[in-house]
Amino acid sequence: MSGTARSQQWYAGDSRDAFIHRAWMRRGLPDHAFDGRPQIVICNTWSDLTPCNSHFREIAEHVKRGVWESGGVPLELPVPSLGETLLRPTAMFFRDLAAMVVEELIRANPVDGVVLLGGCDKTVPSLLLGAASVDLPTLMVTGGPMLNGSWQGRPLGCGTGVWELSEEVRAGRMPRSDLRRAESAMIRSRGHCNTMGTASTMACVAEALGMTLPGNAGLPAPDSRLLELSHAAGNRIVEMVGEDLRPSAVLTREALLNAVRVVAAVGGSTNAVVHLLALARRVGVDFALEDIDRAGRDIPLLADVQPAGAHLMEDFHRAGGLDAVLGQIKDRLEPAVTVSGRPLTDQISGHPSADLTVIRTADEPIARHAGLAVLRGNLCPDGAVIKPAAATPELLRHRGRAVVFDGIEDFHARIDDPGLDVEPSDVLVLRGCGPRGYPGMPEVGNMPLPPKVLRAGVRDMVRISDARMSGTAFGTVVLHIAPESAAGGPLGLVRSGDWIELDVERRVLRLDVPEEELAARQPVTAAAPPAESGWEHIYRAHVEQADRGAGLDFLAGTRGSFVARESH
Ligand code: FES
Ligand code: MG
Repeated sequence: MSGTARSQQWYAGDSRDAFIHRAWMRRGLPDHAFDGRPQIVICNTWSDLTPCNSHFREIAEHVKRGVWESGGVPLELPVPSLGETLLRPTAMFFRDLAAMVVEELIRANPVDGVVLLGGCDKTVPSLLLGAASVDLPTLMVTGGPMLNGSWQGRPLGCGTGVWELSEEVRAGRMPRSDLRRAESAMIRSRGHCNTMGTASTMACVAEALGMTLPGNAGLPAPDSRLLELSHAAGNRIVEMVGEDLRPSAVLTREALLNAVRVVAAVGGSTNAVVHLLALARRVGVDFALEDIDRAGRDIPLLADVQPAGAHLMEDFHRAGGLDAVLGQIKDRLEPAVTVSGRPLTDQISGHPSADLTVIRTADEPIARHAGLAVLRGNLCPDGAVIKPAAATPELLRHRGRAVVFDGIEDFHARIDDPGLDVEPSDVLVLRGCGPRGYPGMPEVGNMPLPPKVLRAGVRDMVRISDARMSGTAFGTVVLHIAPESAAGGPLGLVRSGDWIELDVERRVLRLDVPEEELAARQPVTAAAPPAESGWEHIYRAHVEQADRGAGLDFLAGTRGSFVARESH
C-alpha cells in the first residue's frame, strides 16, 4: 500500500501528532498496522433496542476476518441505531440525525474504506445517506430477514400478520388471548422483518443500487452463508480502497432507476420512495417522484410475498431470491456498476426461480404492471403515493365522502365511536401526520377501519393522508400527500362530507369542491405544538416535504472526506 492512503494523514511520519494518533490506537496493534494499509471502519447499527440488528456483532466479526485476511485493519464504530417498532414519535424522525452522525464520524476519523451494517428499516437509508455524503469507498452488508413465522398452520408475517390479526380482534372474531400467543410465533429468530416490508425492500434496494455484494438481500439472518458473505465483504472493501471505487461511481441515476424497478418487481414498500428521493438529493442526481412512477410502471410483479402476496422472505430466498427476480427483468435494467466492480446486469446468475409459486416469471407474473403510482390533483399538488399491488382492485377507482380526522389523537378518539357517521364507501382522511406536522411522518396512514365497517365484513376502505405506512401494511391507502397540511397543503381544506375522487389508472386524487369555496375555507394544519429547542426544533425547521425525500434541507449534497484542521 502506498503512503497516500487517507489515514496516513493521521499516522504517517514522526510528528508529535502522528505519535499521538498511533500511540493511542496501538493497544496490541503491530507497527505495520500503520504502514499505509487500508483502515476500514465498520459502521455497526447493533443495539439491544434494535432487535432486528441484534446479531450484527457476529456479522462484524466476520467482516473483520475478511479485512484482516486482505491486508486491511478493521475498526468497528457503533453508530446510531433506529429500532423501527420502539422509537417515538417514529424512527423516521431520526433517519437524518443518524445519517448526520454516520457522515460526520466517518469523515472525522482516520479511515480509508467503509462497511455499513444495516437491517431494520431506517438503519439502511441512514447509513447510505451518511456514507454517500463522505464518498469514501463504501460497501453495505444487510443483516437478512428472520425465519418464517407460522401460526395455526398459516404463514404469519411480521407486521402484515399484526395488521390482519388485530383487525380480527376489533371485528370481534378472535379472542385477545390468541393475539398474545401469536407474538412469539411471528418472531422466531434474529433478523429483520420476514415480509417484503421496508427492511426487506431496502435490502433489495441496497443490492439493486449496487451497494452490496450480489446475493445479500433476503439471505436469512441465521444462515451461515450470511457470515460467508460478510467475510467476502471484508475482502472486497480492501480491494475497493485500492481501486478507489466510491459511492459517487455507484449511486447514479441508472442505479436509482434499477432500484425502482426492483421495488416494483418484488412488490416493495412505499417507504422506498422517500429514501430513494432523499438519496438522490444527497448525491445530486436528477431523480424525481415521477421517475419512480415511470420506471416502475411496466415492471411485472413477480414476488408473491406478504404484504402484496402470500409467502415470506425465507421462501423468497429458497426460490432464488433477488437473483431470480433480476434474471426476469434483466432486459429492463441498466448496466450500472456495483461495489463488486461489475455492472449489476453482469452478475445475474440466470438461474430460474426454484419455486414459481413464490417468484414468478415475467411471462406469467402476478400482475403485468406493478410499481408505485404517483398521484396528482388539487389535493396533492406536489404528489402522493399508492401501492396498487397492496390495494383492493375495485377501490382503485372510487368516489367517496370524506370522513376527516385532525391528527392522530382525533382519529383514536373517534374511530371506535359507534356514533361516527361512516359508511364503507367513505374515504378516511387523516392530516397533521406529515414530516413537519407530526413530526416525522409516522406509519399511521393505514388507519384501522371503524368497527361497524369491520363487522359488516368489509376489510378495506380508501384512506388518504400525509403520513407513511408500514411496508408490511396493505389496503387502498394513499400516502405521502405533499404538501402536508402542516405546510399549508390543500389537505387542510377538506371537510367531512366533501366528495373525493381517486383514479389510480389516471393517477388522479381530487377534492370535488369548487375552487371558490375552497378559497373561502380556513386551512387546518392539525400540527403538533411547536418545539422551542432540541432536535425537534431543528428537524421541524428544516425537514423537506415527502416529494423531496422528507430529509433535512441542509443535508442535501455531498461534502467529501477532507478535513482541513488537526485537533491538537
Ligand atoms: Fe425492524 Fe421490521 S421492525 S425490520
Ligand atoms: Mg416500518
